Amino acid sequence: MSISIGIHDLSFATGEFVLEHTTLARHNGTQIGKYHVGIGQESMSVPAADEDIVTLGAAAAAPVIARHGTSRIRTVLFATESSIDQAKSAGVYVHSLIGLPSQTRVVELKQACYGATAALQFAIGLVRRDPAQQVLVIASDVSKYELDSPGEATQGAAAVAMLVGVNPALMRIEDPSGLFTADVMDFWRPNYRDAALVDGEESINAYLQALEGAWKDYTEQDGRSPQEFAAFCYHQPFTKMATKAHRHLLNYCGQDTDHDAVNAAIGLTTAYNRVIGNSYTASVYLGLAALLDQADDLTGRPVGFLSYGSGSVAEFFTGVPAAGYRDHLRTEANRAAISRRTPLSYAQYRSLHERSLPTDGGDHATPAQTTGPFRLSGISGHKRIYKTC
Ligand code: HMG
Repeated sequence: MSISIGIHDLSFATGEFVLEHTTLARHNGTQIGKYHVGIGQESMSVPAADEDIVTLGAAAAAPVIARHGTSRIRTVLFATESSIDQAKSAGVYVHSLIGLPSQTRVVELKQACYGATAALQFAIGLVRRDPAQQVLVIASDVSKYELDSPGEATQGAAAVAMLVGVNPALMRIEDPSGLFTADVMDFWRPNYRDAALVDGEESINAYLQALEGAWKDYTEQDGRSPQEFAAFCYHQPFTKMATKAHRHLLNYCGQDTDHDAVNAAIGLTTAYNRVIGNSYTASVYLGLAALLDQADDLTGRPVGFLSYGSGSVAEFFTGVPAAGYRDHLRTEANRAAISRRTPLSYAQYRSLHERSLPTDGGDHATPAQTTGPFRLSGISGHKRIYKTC
């Protein structure tokens, strides 16, 4: 009999601040309908000057450690495309901040927004090899585009931590997986740049082509048929993308694409991404958190996942909520992570956006802004210094 492996716990954290799209629209003269309806976004998280992928990742993971301890975790997979170092994994800083034992392997993974799904699948492989072990998967990203560019309205920041193990309390991940890779330049960020470069229209087409390819492969791997799914969690660079994607999939499968059918499949998954913005690797799993926090009982009802990372790699796979999963959700904490954010004026947002850490190797303290559990207190001799608050 095959063992059940999947997501045992899921927790997320987001930035200290929030920029409302109404504030951005007032600045750039955009009609608010374009943001609220056209791309389906209301606001986006903005990290404080003393937050980064490490502090967000540690803040997401700490509640998982508090609930389950560290004794079974022997691997940390840290997925990000907002890496802070070309050599050292951001996960090693998190390992120390959350008190994991030295008998742990820690590594960073990258393939744009797809990285966390690679981490989840690799974690399942490790657990299958030794079912006594658990793997901590952390997806943490800060999405940054140029000021006054079309991408600016699709920024955001968040981290998701998932504990992967046997007999998962939240969701079993099924074996069939549909894969797709194509070498395209739809979105990329050369090492010397802070902000991503993007061909917006090409990126949407590339996403839809990748969805089609991953779904086709999924069906060839004996996957489920579209009617079997209770809901679909898509990667959401902006929530309207989930609508476009699901309509595309239904069309491809020869199914009805009316508004109600699309909304029933994806509506609940967009609630957190709509107010957090693009959190890259974390986005599809914020979709899962929003779905589980709001849906009526989904026990035993398959949920489809489409993970897309520009460049590009996509994977379609299925998770099945476990009996009793609702007793293990973090709904209140999830809502608090969103509601606790402080709104920024446009000028405050702009000054945070334009800020970068000094590169002269000197001693520099960062302004104390975050009210989160961990902070980047400064940089000294090119070394980032983190503190528990
Ligand atoms: P844009 O040029 O600002 O907007 O680019 P637009 O003119 O295309 O308008 C957007 C939508 O708003 C359109 O609807 C308009 O009709 C509508 P659509 O035709 O798409 O259905 N609209 C309005 N609706 C209501 N009232 C109005 C109104 N005005 C216009 N008054 C774009 C938008 C998303 C391309 C831009 O923001 C961008 O380049 N974003 C970054 C790239 C991106 O997110 N791509 C998504 C796919 S790639 C991906 O998901 C990977 C990624 O996460 C990175 C990774 O993998 O690491 C990005």
